[in-house]
Amino acid sequence: MLVLAHISDLRLDGSARATERARRVCDRLRELPGQPDALVVTGDIADHGTEAEYEEAARVLGLDDGDAPFPVLTCPGDHDSRAPYRKALLGLPAADGPVNTVQVFDGGAVLMCDSSVPGREEGALDEETYGWIEATLDELDGAVPALLAFHHPPVRLHHPPPPPEGCDRYPRPGSRRLCAPDRLAALLGRRPEIAGLVTGHAHPPAATSFAGRPLVAGPGVTWTPQLPWEGEQVADRETPVGLAFHVLDDEGRLTSHFRTV
Ligand SMILES: [Fe+2]
Ligand SMILES: [Fe+2]
Repeated sequence: MLVLAHISDLRLDGSARATERARRVCDRLRELPGQPDALVVTGDIADHGTEAEYEEAARVLGLDDGDAPFPVLTCPGDHDSRAPYRKALLGLPAADGPVNTVQVFDGGAVLMCDSSVPGREEGALDEETYGWIEATLDELDGAVPALLAFHHPPVRLHHPPPPPEGCDRYPRPGSRRLCAPDRLAALLGRRPEIAGLVTGHAHPPAATSFAGRPLVAGPGVTWTPQLPWEGEQVADRETPVGLAFHVLDDEGRLTSHFRTV
């Protein structure tokens, strides 16, 4: 069995507000009497993708001094910038290719995939990333169930996506998802060992399905837009910080729990 904590969209921008919200949820996790096997952070970690924002992210997530009590697994989102991300969060040389990483536990493997497209808001898994997913799953050979994690949901979540910088309303409902979802669906069709998908980008947590697998968009830390039937669709910057826990059991079933901090 694998227990994962999941947060998304920290959007650290140097403001005390963004840092406090991210710290609040990370502190809660560290105080738990039982620690999760890992913390998954599905992108939009920085707001503008600057080096300073990633240095702050590394401090908040405990990656700067190896102080995190559990592995912290991250992937980039549309607000992230690959080169400073690699350097500050992964301790790797700054380079521009997709950032794909895998962590294998006794109870499952978590593939953190890069769906960001530099300079664009919409997402895509590129050739290199598809090749990496297939090769990684080949190597695992079905020994444990696998979760795919990336930033952009491949399906419509029936609420508008986060608005652009400085805009509290939503101009293009349904836009900015993962491009070419059919290709991902075809991969899932060939790979029964993939037990589910977790994403970010949405900000309000959401649970749905994709290609017959559970799909959970994790709660965004920075702010939460109201849903269309809740009113004005303005970003709520005061709502409690969300946190999800995913349990991947030995039957390969994904169960998700939601909390606020
Ligand atoms: Fe975001
Ligand atoms: Fe995003």
